[in-house]
Amino acid sequence: MIARQDRQLRNRHNSCTLWFTGLSGSGKSTLAFALEQALHSRNIASYVLDGDNIRHGLNRDLGFSSDDRKENIRRIGEVSKLFVDAGLIVLSAFISPDEGDRLMVKEMFQPGDHIEVYVKCSLAECEKRDPKGLYKKARSGQISNFTGIDSKYDVPGSPDLIIDTEHMTVDESLAALLAYLEERNYLA
Ligand code: PPS
Repeated sequence: MIARQDRQLRNRHNSCTLWFTGLSGSGKSTLAFALEQALHSRNIASYVLDGDNIRHGLNRDLGFSSDDRKENIRRIGEVSKLFVDAGLIVLSAFISPDEGDRLMVKEMFQPGDHIEVYVKCSLAECEKRDPKGLYKKARSGQISNFTGIDSKYDVPGSPDLIIDTEHMTVDESLAALLAYLEERNYLA
């Protein structure tokens, strides 16, 4: 039987999940895809999970009530865990607004296999960016339960890493993420 360790030896790097949490528009997916590109160019097997490939498929039965968000996060945690076992560096980019739900995911993993990255950006800045026009819709009442407007976001109490996208460029953020992974031997 092939074990995770065998897959890591074959891949020549460790596996883990980077769990990006932050408001809509904070830059979670942008950072995850930039990191995937950087890892790919170093021959490191990684994969991005985000709303586009999860909420339209596996989790298309779920909405944005707190129960549905919890189930969304739970399933993504389980999928991330399988990908870590498969030897990948998983980049999971979800708002994951509830501290308890994030803890539930963290507890699915062995220590060191799960890295929580808080993608920090103020609501005002996210609303200014409004890349999908969703804040505008939420303010005008066309969308309800929108995170930051009429649904809560718990600021992470003890993230492993904070990336402040309001004050850092994508390149600076990427450098901080790579340095974190390098210093802890995930890429070796
Ligand atoms: S959660 O809270 O973690 O379950 O959300 P997530 O799976 O990351 O999905 C967030 C994306 O769905 C879009 N969207 C909403 N976000 C928040 N609240 C409401 N009500 C909502 N309705 C749709 C939105 O585009 C989020 O994408 P990002 O990439 O975060 O902007």
